[in-house]
Amino acid sequence: MIALLLVGFLALNYPLLALFSKAVIWMGIPALYLYLFVFWALFIGLMCAVTCGGALVGIDLSNDHPVGVVYPSADPRFKNRTMVERDLRLYDGKIECCSCHNAHNNAGGNFLRVESRQLCQTCHDY
Ligand code: HEC
Ligand code: HEC
Repeated sequence: MIALLLVGFLALNYPLLALFSKAVIWMGIPALYLYLFVFWALFIGLMCAVTCGGALVGIDLSNDHPVGVVYPSADPRFKNRTMVERDLRLYDGKIECCSCHNAHNNAGGNFLRVESRQLCQTCHDY
């Protein structure tokens, strides 16, 4: 995090910016603007990766499994909806937080409705 801030500080200061401040044009855009814009976008991406722990997909789905999506029961990659609703819950046919979680039962840890080893396969067939 500190290292990243240092990089940000250096990249947006005099020696580097001076390289681009000549009126060079790349792809019809002045190089200085292009550099600033691209660097800024990359920097935001990196900051996000660092502060979010870097994991966009993984076992810890506390913040990134899709919710509010309709359960695609016709999709062959997913189990039949009736089977899903034996152990989990859908709300208006949608996956919400409480599809996987039950706030009143922490027997299996993380307030999950199904033990985490089996949870994914309750819906996913892949
Ligand atoms: C597809 C199933 C699923 C959905 C939907 C889901 N979770 Fe989870 N959640 C899990 C699993 C699995 C874990 C345990 C992750 C682990 O073991 O690291 C978990 C863990 C958590 C934790 C504990 C996190 C931790 O780091 O200790 C919280 C809090 C949580 N979920 C909240 C939510 C909220 C709020 C929502 C809705 C936005 C949600 N979950 C939707 C499966 C789900
Ligand atoms: C309640 C049913 C259900 C459970 C349980 C479930 N999933 Fe999913 N998952 C889905 C559905 C439906 C989608 C497709 C959502 C969409 O994009 O429309 C999906 C999408 C995904 C994706 C793609 C994510 C994305 O952003 O496109 C991943 C990765 C994934 N699931 C992993 C898991 C893992 C790992 C577990 C177990 C911890 C799990 N799922 C448990 C129903 C479920």
